[in-house]
Amino acid sequence: MTGASQMKAAVVRRYGPPETISLRDVPIPSPATGEIRVRVYAATVNRTDTATLRGHPFFARAMTGILRPKMPTLGMDFAGVVDVLGDGVSGWRPGDRVFGLLPDQFGAHAEYFCIPADGAVSLIPAGLPFHEAVVGEGAWYANATTKRLRKDQSCLIFGASGAIGTAAVQLAKARGAEVTAVVGSRHLDLAKSIGADQVINYEEEDFVAVDKRFDLVFDAVGKTSWFACRPLIKTGATFAATDLGPYWSNILLGAWFKMTGSRRVGVPFPTDARGFLRDLADLMSKGSFCGVFDRSYALAEIVEAFRYVEKGQKTGIVVVKVR
Ligand SMILES: NC(=O)c1ccc[n+]([C@@H]2O[C@H](COP(=O)([O-])OP(=O)(O)OC[C@H]3O[C@@H](n4cnc5c(N)ncnc54)[C@H](OP(=O)(O)O)[C@@H]3O)[C@@H](O)[C@H]2O)c1
Repeated sequence: MTGASQMKAAVVRRYGPPETISLRDVPIPSPATGEIRVRVYAATVNRTDTATLRGHPFFARAMTGILRPKMPTLGMDFAGVVDVLGDGVSGWRPGDRVFGLLPDQFGAHAEYFCIPADGAVSLIPAGLPFHEAVVGEGAWYANATTKRLRKDQSCLIFGASGAIGTAAVQLAKARGAEVTAVVGSRHLDLAKSIGADQVINYEEEDFVAVDKRFDLVFDAVGKTSWFACRPLIKTGATFAATDLGPYWSNILLGAWFKMTGSRRVGVPFPTDARGFLRDLADLMSKGSFCGVFDRSYALAEIVEAFRYVEKGQKTGIVVVKVR
């Protein structure tokens, strides 16, 4: 902290590379009616942050600001302590240890932010350190795709080593599905350790040649396509992806198949972040879900953190230790 009324925040004034972020002293926000103020202990730099920093894809600027970013500070995942309650807030107490998501407003790359008391915030499971509670973003996206899996169904998760992929493996297993994970050499042990039943090394084998068909094929890293994975998909089953696909194929095929009703392809968009966080906290308390962490940076090193995450090579989650 810099003074009684000032805090450190990573400020973004225009779309661009990581160097456009600067660490500044800004006023500590005060909670409005119905809001809580959170003192941030940990945040992440994730692919939503890096895409929003660049303003890519362009259509997403309809939400984040056409010419300039509407939000002065990024950071979607947070873990911290409830600091001050706004008027009319019930259900929270100063000192509550909380984690959550800021999908619309961002702002966790700062020492404090305010959030609606009924927003995407939940209590951290007992005993979990702040820097292990920043697990929401990847899990929320993964849940959008895996939530319809049922016991005894099977899924193949391509790119099971990123934030979304590692979460998808665990959420699919928690629903009783059988999971085949496709990862590179350096992530084979990781994929087994988080519960994958079979692991394929994409650097040594053609994963499409596996003699099996699945109820769900999920491209969790945007590096394959429906066309490549077609032989793996059971009749009537789903191909889902985190990215638009080559020539926006995941969007165009999704729309076409919706009209013809012949197949299912899509880029599922997550909803109900608050409800999901409660389910996730429950899974973490039972030991059925845990974050996979790559490395951590101090808030002062935020530019470095963005540079690293932009490479698309991280393993799971990159943490920012704010306090
Ligand atoms: N537009 C948005 O707002 C948005 C938001 C969230 C996520 N996404 C998309 O979701 C995807 C996943 O995000 P994430 O945070 O989970 O990713 P991430 O953590 O950056 O995942 C990267 C992982 O994928 C692996 N990988 C790289 N190339 C691969 C390949 N050809 N085949 C299989 N694995 C490969 C990397 O390990 P190895 O290289 O060692 O295999 C690394 O562990 C990204 O493509 C991102 O664009 C988009």
